[in-house]
Amino acid sequence: MSDIEQYFVKEEPYYRPLDNEVELFEAAYAARMPVMLKGPTGCGKTRFVEYMAFRLKRPLVTVACNEDMTASDLVGRFLLDATGTRWQDGPLTTAARIGAICYLDEIVEARQDTTVVIHPLTDHRRAIPLDKKGELVSAHPDFQLVISYNPGYQNLLKDLKQSTKQRFGALDFGYPETAIETEVVAHETGVDAKTAGKLVQIAQRARNLKGHGLDEGISTRLLVYAGQLIAKGVEPKAACQMTLVRPLTDDPDMRDTLDAAVATFF
Ligand SMILES: Nc1ncnc2c1ncn2[C@@H]1O[C@H](COP(=O)(O)OP(=O)(O)OP(=O)(O)O)[C@@H](O)[C@H]1O
Ligand SMILES: [Mg+2]
Repeated sequence: MSDIEQYFVKEEPYYRPLDNEVELFEAAYAARMPVMLKGPTGCGKTRFVEYMAFRLKRPLVTVACNEDMTASDLVGRFLLDATGTRWQDGPLTTAARIGAICYLDEIVEARQDTTVVIHPLTDHRRAIPLDKKGELVSAHPDFQLVISYNPGYQNLLKDLKQSTKQRFGALDFGYPETAIETEVVAHETGVDAKTAGKLVQIAQRARNLKGHGLDEGISTRLLVYAGQLIAKGVEPKAACQMTLVRPLTDDPDMRDTLDAAVATFF
């Protein structure tokens, strides 16, 4: 049996609400409704789920999904050891047993035959069949499933099936509005509000280039990186180049455009 203690979020994560998402999530949790968090990379989805787990005093089991992941990676498998074979629960089964919030990060990365294992957990059955073991695990009453989903990255071949999508309530996340994002960057890094405000304005310019040469705008996460370097004494222009320009693109023209945006503020 796994030790449940290890799954509790020990300290309150800093989370600055963007709208009424905390209340909505609480209501969804009270109904044990599966929830999908939608939004671009680095906008606060993981931080939000950590915060909610802490607030609801539930353990949190997080799984980073990828295309090599099999149903067994989620559900569990038999292992061979010195004494013979031994069943080991996968993270989804563990979460169902202990009554955790199970967060499947970037669920679309998983293959569809993997994704369907969540179906019986997300309807009235609230159970997970361990086919190889011949056991049906009923989810603990406190169990909840949360998945994240970045709508921008999907193509038609790699999207969730409607039969999966329509098992979730969804919350849209986006980059916070100026004042809130400035607050987040200042809080996370220790830079003053003026500096944080400039970083946010640079990001907003870059976000306008999404679809016009950039696949994705500068995330809040990258602004936090920039602030962290500046707080460590790195000259702001160099900090911005390292964290806001170079990770985003290798295209020389686009880099010039972004450098120019940085130069406007620093
Ligand atoms: N509302 C917020 N309150 C507090 N911190 C935030 C908020 N939004 C973003 N952040 C900051 O941005 C960083 C990135 O957020 P997070 O890791 O939650 O992104 P994500 O949406 O899960 O991204 P990904 O899709 O790439 O996993 C956090 O570590 C935190 O510093
Ligand atoms: Mg995340």
